[in-house]
Amino acid sequence: MTDSTTQDVVYKTDTLIAEDIDTYLDLHQNKSLLRFITCGSVDDGKSTLIGRLLYDSKMIFEDQLAALEDDSRRVGTQGEDIDFALLVDGLAAEREQGITIDVAYRFFATEKRKFIVADTPGHEQYTRNMVTGASTADLAVILIDARKGVLPQTKRHSFLAHLIGIRHIVVAVNKMDLVDYDRDTFDKIVSDYREFAQEIGISEFTPIPISGFKGDNITKAPSENTPWYNGPSLIDHLETVELDTVAAQNRPFRMPVQWVNRPNLDFRGFSGLISDGQVTPGQQIRVVPSGKTSTVKSIVTMDGNLDQAVTGQSVTITLEDEIDCSRGDVIATADAPPESADQFESTIVWMSDEKLIPGRGYWLKLASQTVSATIAEPKYEIDVNTLEHLAAKALELNSIGVAEVTTDKPIVFEPYADSKQLGGFILIDKITNATVAAGMIHFSLRRAQNVHWQPTSITREDHSGMKNQKPAVLWFTGLSGSGKSTIANMVEKKLARMNRHTFLLDGDNIRHGLNKDLGFTEADRIENIRRVGEVAKLMADAGLIVITAFISPFRAERDMVRNMLPDGEFIEVHIDTPLKVAEERDVKGLYKKARSGELKNFTGIDSPYEEPDNPEIRIDTTAMTPEEAADLIISKVIP
Ligand code: ADX
Repeated sequence: MTDSTTQDVVYKTDTLIAEDIDTYLDLHQNKSLLRFITCGSVDDGKSTLIGRLLYDSKMIFEDQLAALEDDSRRVGTQGEDIDFALLVDGLAAEREQGITIDVAYRFFATEKRKFIVADTPGHEQYTRNMVTGASTADLAVILIDARKGVLPQTKRHSFLAHLIGIRHIVVAVNKMDLVDYDRDTFDKIVSDYREFAQEIGISEFTPIPISGFKGDNITKAPSENTPWYNGPSLIDHLETVELDTVAAQNRPFRMPVQWVNRPNLDFRGFSGLISDGQVTPGQQIRVVPSGKTSTVKSIVTMDGNLDQAVTGQSVTITLEDEIDCSRGDVIATADAPPESADQFESTIVWMSDEKLIPGRGYWLKLASQTVSATIAEPKYEIDVNTLEHLAAKALELNSIGVAEVTTDKPIVFEPYADSKQLGGFILIDKITNATVAAGMIHFSLRRAQNVHWQPTSITREDHSGMKNQKPAVLWFTGLSGSGKSTIANMVEKKLARMNRHTFLLDGDNIRHGLNKDLGFTEADRIENIRRVGEVAKLMADAGLIVITAFISPFRAERDMVRNMLPDGEFIEVHIDTPLKVAEERDVKGLYKKARSGELKNFTGIDSPYEEPDNPEIRIDTTAMTPEEAADLIISKVIP
């Protein structure tokens, strides 16, 4: 382990980048890989422990070691002991704030195994970082300061590690040197931890008394300071614990299809990463959700065909039969396939500064599937410190809740407890493309499966044919008082004179009937637009030219309605009146009320309006009369 490339890898990177992992993993190709996380706060000696692991596995260059000894001397560490924290607490911000802020990944290897350790921050406001680091980990090292015992943060870390599905928990009782290697102290901490662990469903854990600073029970156990300890050293345990991929190999076979490989007419293979189980040629498989079955003909890789492939391998599978199978489908064992459904109960960890908006559409990515999904108002939020269930209307940054998720079409999944790959998902904001949450599926809710689509004989083409017109939705959007209703009304009158069949849906009117239960919170506005969108769609199906006049302040929901309709039928009309002008007009006197604080959540004042990026039609009301605007709109929609 003194190859110079490896050394570079370790010291060049504080954060893992793909190229480095490749270089590193290549050097230790034949060793198994354990990914683990360390949880604890700065004071628990986390950085010291990681430094110690790197040092003891000889991953330090002589000159770097010399520099470290220098540094240690400078900060006043006594005698022979090296301050390993200096080795890994590289980030300036970290030192200044005295906290670990990001997920830093580090590599090391021993004779038997290679390791990637995610050093995750302990503070509550960094829950999302911990979840990110933990999502691929096989094991978590929970650090406890022997002088302090089990703290609220110990519980929080353990809860999160368990939630994320980490099967192996090491309770490293650190700083044993500072309690004179006292056995009773260790035993008491272990029994406290056991009591709490049982409460949250952690049935097994491995307690180890250590000193990251002095090195006790890190590589060899028992250390001469803890003759009473008869368990493994930390390294021994890390080297022998069962990997998740090994455990997953005993599960039924599943491979989410990443892409269909069809270089020519003679070859059609399905490529993907095996998420669970193993596969051999001749095996009976089923494609989910279609349910079609076939037999594996061959397993193809860059290095030739295989007799068997296992969890974690990327392969291309060919089948005996020509059956439909595309990206997002899952190829599975024929007799034990995963379910597909479009409603689930899930735990959701919110990771964005923008809070969850129930009812809004987000992209949901699970294995190789991407679908649109909405999240209902959470059933409850979990207080990560007390583990109490709290009532919640939404989820904010770093909060964890349980909620129902509905996808716009069925997805193939398994409960997270059975398969991390097929049970874990992320949510992505449709506008910013940022990952806003991580989720874990508990189970499907079968309600939706019992509601079927009823085919009808008179089609939407028949409806529009009878009316002799092409249906459309003219979606007016703009500030309150921008002139939407006035112009929309004029457009409808003109269309009626041209013998077109129309219907006008107007915000103020709909809010007196269908939507009288809704107010002006973000969630209510989203529901307002969702319902109006559905009604507009039905009316377009009936062959009508629908005109809608709603503020509809959010891009996401306007896009949602756009996506509900056939291409070209949704025409976004931005009634573009500057706030200043709308406020001066103040036809209904509402701006005045909003400014005085009498009216809350008023669009443009204390509630946002997101302008359309690319509307089909933009009307500058300061440059034309409503009559001219109406003529312009009609000229663009009626050929
Ligand atoms: S939307 O935001 O949900 O699309 P919608 O168009 O239905 O709004 O209703 C807007 C109308 O409701 C406004 O023209 C105004 O007359 C009235 N209104 C009452 N309170 C508010 C408010 N807080 N913000 C905006 N409009 C309000």
